[in-house]
Amino acid sequence: MAPSLAQLLSLLPPLLLLSPARALTLRSDASSSLPTLKHELRGASACRCFPGDPCWPTPAQWKAFNSTLGGKLIVTVQLLHPKCDALQNIWFNPQTHIDSPSSVMAQYFTNNSCNPFLPDSASLNASSASDYQKTIAFIQQHNIRLVIKNTGHDYNGKSTGAGAVAIWTHNIKLMEAIDYHSSYYTGKVMKMGAGVAVHEAYEFADTKDVLVVGGNCPTVGLVGGYTQGGGHGPLASKFGLGADQVLEWEVVTGTGQLVTATPTQYLDLYWALCGGGGGIYGAVVSLTAKAYPAVAVAAANMTFFNNGSNADQFYDVIATFQESLPAMVDAGVVVIWLLTPTYFALMPATAPGLSKASLDALWKPTIDKLNEHQIQYQYYSQEFPTYLESYKAMNTPWEVSENQVGGRLIPRSLVEKNNTALMSALRNLVDGGTLFSGVAFNVNHSVSSPDAVAANPYWRELIFDAVLGTPYSYTDWNANVQYALEMTNDLLPQLEKLMPNGGAYLNEADFRQPDFQSVFYGSNYGKLNAIKAKYNPEDRFYALTAVGSDRWTQRQDGRLCRT
Ligand SMILES: Cc1cc2nc3c(=O)[nH]c(=O)nc-3n(C[C@H](O)[C@H](O)[C@H](O)COP(=O)(O)OP(=O)(O)OC[C@H]3O[C@@H](n4cnc5c(N)ncnc54)[C@H](O)[C@@H]3O)c2cc1C
Ligand SMILES: *[C@@H]1O[C@H](CO)[C@@H](O)[C@H](O)[C@H]1NC(C)=O
Ligand SMILES: *[C@@H]1O[C@H](CO)[C@@H](O)[C@H](O)[C@H]1NC(C)=O
Ligand SMILES: *[C@@H]1O[C@H](CO)[C@@H](O)[C@H](O)[C@H]1NC(C)=O
Ligand SMILES: *[C@@H]1O[C@H](CO)[C@@H](O)[C@H](O)[C@H]1NC(C)=O
Ligand SMILES: *[C@@H]1O[C@H](CO)[C@@H](O)[C@H](O)[C@H]1NC(C)=O
Ligand SMILES: *[C@@H]1O[C@H](CO)[C@@H](O)[C@H](O)[C@H]1NC(C)=O
Ligand SMILES: *[C@@H]1O[C@H](CO)[C@@H](O)[C@H](O)[C@H]1NC(C)=O
Repeated sequence: MAPSLAQLLSLLPPLLLLSPARALTLRSDASSSLPTLKHELRGASACRCFPGDPCWPTPAQWKAFNSTLGGKLIVTVQLLHPKCDALQNIWFNPQTHIDSPSSVMAQYFTNNSCNPFLPDSASLNASSASDYQKTIAFIQQHNIRLVIKNTGHDYNGKSTGAGAVAIWTHNIKLMEAIDYHSSYYTGKVMKMGAGVAVHEAYEFADTKDVLVVGGNCPTVGLVGGYTQGGGHGPLASKFGLGADQVLEWEVVTGTGQLVTATPTQYLDLYWALCGGGGGIYGAVVSLTAKAYPAVAVAAANMTFFNNGSNADQFYDVIATFQESLPAMVDAGVVVIWLLTPTYFALMPATAPGLSKASLDALWKPTIDKLNEHQIQYQYYSQEFPTYLESYKAMNTPWEVSENQVGGRLIPRSLVEKNNTALMSALRNLVDGGTLFSGVAFNVNHSVSSPDAVAANPYWRELIFDAVLGTPYSYTDWNANVQYALEMTNDLLPQLEKLMPNGGAYLNEADFRQPDFQSVFYGSNYGKLNAIKAKYNPEDRFYALTAVGSDRWTQRQDGRLCRT
């Protein structure tokens, strides 16, 4: 007979995993032991209750909790696998992580463990607001750490935690197209449950002849970290960020209250959830977002190569391409590209409402430059009757990122006024082996003012979101630690110095980013912190690099304690 949840939990040793805090302390060896010492002196009361502590729920209490939830509690050992090799083969398939209540894609947060799962204590396979409420009551009663996990895409390990009870939202798949009337919006909308993925929303919208704003990546959770963190995607230049689309959030707050936050009620909570970062203002049950009449879509892709001897010409083309971006994004185009030491790949450019001819004309400066330098290229463009067809034909399949990431929001003014300096920094990074990916768009006019939602106001100045990637090794852990340090201390600063007081996308950034409060949240940090405190008086919601996370430190054993 399989052991019960209660038996398993009582047998668990103190859970060991990589603490992001440990990684954080690598930055300064001298001070790394200090925070731990301080907590030891203060005693366990300053910490969340951890497996093995006297305060940890008894087997009977776990059993009772499971039964109030109708048996939906899962011990999170789903990715335990007899052989590491077998697991590594399936690791790169996002579905492995999406189907698991506990596994996350950012392998760095697994402490070089053969079993790439993180030992949450238990996950609730949630299906309703009342499931959320019961879980919040339980973690409050027992002082246990809480985590909200949707797809596990978060690069910063925000959807995992040792000794936590996780609310797993993946199976909440409600989707409805509604004619909506309110004082602030009249028109088509889509209501989506917490577990809806980007591709599911696109497919449903297509059947209703509407467009819904989502990400480039099909498997990202639209209602979770994506919209709550800002959210960019192929329709951003035309309609704005994901966070700009929100009309209503159904959300359970830190006190267990279910509320509907809109521009006219719980405005502060509504505002914070629109781009202020996932996982910390409340547990979202559903999102109601604007939907737009369907239009035809043109899209293009392109590749050309840097073979070493044509490197100067190659980068000259890239410079011309960057200078053409303002015209593209102003025409409603979103451009996604990858730059590696050996090639440039456009993957793709999406132009809702534009003809193929108009899109081709926007690429003319780049193509002329390629011809001038006699660089061979492949360029392909097509007009599609629907967004979904364009998306399916032109998007390259995504795998779990094999890179450690860092990011920077590149302001339009830099490309317009000093593209030379930007190009020289990019070339230096890429020549050094750093992968670079860019997503260009214009969201300057999609909100009445940059303060209308909590998304970093710096988005409104953007020409492109730059994401840097360093290699990730599944066999050499020390190399990963070195690469992570290099990202923080050497690579990102090369971009940062070109745009002092700049920003980064909190969902695609370095988890060790210095001054993350201002870099990720801009001038909104203080206000967001106050809203978090208002709806979470006991500070139950925590995620690394999230608002208020500086009040907590994760110890080496994974235990979460007040800083
Ligand atoms: C391969 C890949 C491609 C990506 N492409 C894009 C892109 O095109 N555009 C873009 O903007 N971003 C993109 N991202 C970044 C993505 O938006 C973030 O990783 C985001 O956090 C994912 O949200 P999730 O809910 O799917 O993931 P999770 O890791 O499950 O959750 C992320 C955060 O949101 C919180 N959260 C999740 N659900 C809820 C809920 N119901 N209530 C409250 N908090 C919740 C979690 O606690 C966590 O803090 C990409 C990431 C990857 C790995
Ligand atoms: C990580 O793994 C090492 C080696 O297996 C182990 O000593 C350590 O306790 C683990 N946990 C953390 C958070 O470092
Ligand atoms: C929770 O209860 C259900 C229904 O009794 C049971 O099937 C399930 O195994 C329990 N969870 C665990 C992990 O014990
Ligand atoms: C979670 O619940 C859904 C129903 O909401 C069910 O289909 C699914 O099998 C459950 N998953 C696990 C891992 O228990
Ligand atoms: C590199 O590419 C250029 C054109 O882009 C070509 O003229 C040159 O012959 C190539 N060199 C090598 C070594 O392949
Ligand atoms: C461009 O897209 C077309 C249509 O999907 C595809 O056949 C082709 O391989 C792609 N080309 C490049 C260079 O990505
Ligand atoms: C461009 O940036 C470089 C590096 O920051 C700086 O030295 C140079 O003065 C700038 N040029 C202009 C025209 O702003
Ligand atoms: C954004 O719009 C404002 C007001 O129209 C304008 O002043 C500003 O230059 C624009 N910024 C960008 C980056 O387009």
